[in-house]
Amino acid sequence: MAPGRYQMYNNNPFKLGLFGANCSSGRAINKLPERWLADWDSCAAMAKLADDAGFDFLLPIGRWKGYGGPTNFQGVTYETVTWATGLLAVTKRINVFGTVHAPLFNPMVAAKQMVTADHVGHGRFALNIVVGWNEPEFQMSGIRQREHGERYDFAEEWISAIKQMWSEDKPFDFHSAFLDLHSVVSEPKPDGRTAPFIMNAGSSDAGKAFAMRHCNGFFTSFREHDVKKSADFVARYKADARALGRDIDVFTQGHVVCRPTRKEAEDYFHYFTTEGADFEAVEEILRLKNVTRANTPDYDSRRKAIPLMNIGYPIVGSPDDVAEKLARIYGAGISGIGFSLVNYVTELPLLAQELIPRLTKLGLRAPV
Ligand SMILES: Cc1cc2nc3c(=O)[nH]c(=O)nc-3n(C[C@H](O)[C@H](O)[C@H](O)COP(=O)(O)O)c2cc1C
Repeated sequence: MAPGRYQMYNNNPFKLGLFGANCSSGRAINKLPERWLADWDSCAAMAKLADDAGFDFLLPIGRWKGYGGPTNFQGVTYETVTWATGLLAVTKRINVFGTVHAPLFNPMVAAKQMVTADHVGHGRFALNIVVGWNEPEFQMSGIRQREHGERYDFAEEWISAIKQMWSEDKPFDFHSAFLDLHSVVSEPKPDGRTAPFIMNAGSSDAGKAFAMRHCNGFFTSFREHDVKKSADFVARYKADARALGRDIDVFTQGHVVCRPTRKEAEDYFHYFTTEGADFEAVEEILRLKNVTRANTPDYDSRRKAIPLMNIGYPIVGSPDDVAEKLARIYGAGISGIGFSLVNYVTELPLLAQELIPRLTKLGLRAPV
């Protein structure tokens, strides 16, 4: 545990975060009139509402190119470290992550960008390291996307160099397979000279092993139909980390639709994942995975599934239903959740008024 990093180590047993608000449409591939536009004023309003409600973190998506369709899904995105810096300036308690593509950011520059954000927020910046996903994003940058395993080898050197910049007072050299840095100095250090909370969400063995060595938090999927499997995975992952002398919290991600009644919530969820979905963007997501009608016999069912898959675990219902589902996740040993909403500003007040008190009663949140 990093002393001085109070906010991610506060006494809320189950951490709550909002995921994806730096991107237009968030994570819901929808074309509803109220869809999230991710303009700055809305982002700032969302951050203040979440901060006042006691949320623990905001987690943006590192995305550089939209998926097309009438809404150009995730076509408008703020760069995440600058987004975090701005939001840290207008909030008081909440942590804000940068989701940083290691291969796209020179480590000397990234180390200082993150420290700048961290000082603006007095120790509330956190880092989600990503190594690369969509090829067209890399093509725009002119930087070659490495083979999969090598992506994490590079990230390992990148974060090791940055951690040294964050802690080392004397000039140092960093020579490794990918980096050749001479007489490196980096001042100031992060707030309180403690490293920001670091997260990774890899799903491959290489990604999981990387997180175990370098991160404080790891993202995994929650299996509603096999809670025991999720609980076993979390227990094993944490035990393996402990064997390496590391303490790692496991988080998950999902999408919340909370309405005064279960029926309202279910109807809305059904609508924006079917008729209200932007299926042209869905088709582009499938094309990037090399899934086309020509090469995939069950193309139509795959196409139908994407609006659901893209938002992760659906948490849909009345405030009682949502609280109960979150309690089940907590029961599996998971330390917190980053979830998306269709509209982060209009949907937060109900969560603040109705959900948080229920979570406090269930023991997931510390009494304010
Ligand atoms: C919660 C979560 C957030 C993620 N955020 C991003 C992101 O913002 N940008 C990105 O390029 N990849 C993102 N990813 C992808 C992961 O970093 C990772 O590349 C992906 O899960 C595949 O795992 P692998 O790299 O181990 O193969 C995210 C994944 C998850 C589960």
